[in-house]
Amino acid sequence: MKKFALGCLAASMLVGAGFSSAIADDSIEYRQSVFKVVKWHMDTLGAMARGDADFDADAALHHAKQVHAMSFMAKEGFGEGTQGGAAKAEIWSNWDQFAGGMEKFQEVSGAMVAAAEEGSLQALRPAVGQMGQTCRTCHDHFRD
Ligand code: HEC
Repeated sequence: MKKFALGCLAASMLVGAGFSSAIADDSIEYRQSVFKVVKWHMDTLGAMARGDADFDADAALHHAKQVHAMSFMAKEGFGEGTQGGAAKAEIWSNWDQFAGGMEKFQEVSGAMVAAAEEGSLQALRPAVGQMGQTCRTCHDHFRD
């Protein structure tokens, strides 16, 4: 009986471990996918801001809105116990700072949408610059 109970315990621990690492893997895939989408939209905005692509007011507004929408999606991919990928351990040991970075992401991308609504390259350019700076600041602290 004792042997049986221990066997069950071992089996449930194995299942438990498998389950949590599956969650971590899914979370890593989720957040990396969110950032891939973010990059897709930022690349076009960056090209317009640099003058490498023609300015198109409708396209700029579309891409800015998509970045802003994604800014609300990334954070849930960093749940407890989902260390891995290129995410630094400092995210979890310094959660308030990281969460503040995510809020900044939302604010600055919101400002980029407002700038895109003005419909001019002149308004868009500094907003895209500020967005890029916000990406870099977080990556410098929290990404390998
Ligand atoms: C508050 C922090 C934070 C902000 C803001 C942020 N990122 Fe990231 N980003 C990360 C972290 C952490 C990772 C690593 C995720 C992982 O590998 O688990 C990452 C990963 C990425 C990746 C790699 C995705 C892959 O294929 O694995 C790209 C591309 C990226 N970010 C682009 C951006 C862009 C563009 C912005 C700004 C518009 C941005 N990020 C803003 C934290 C941030």
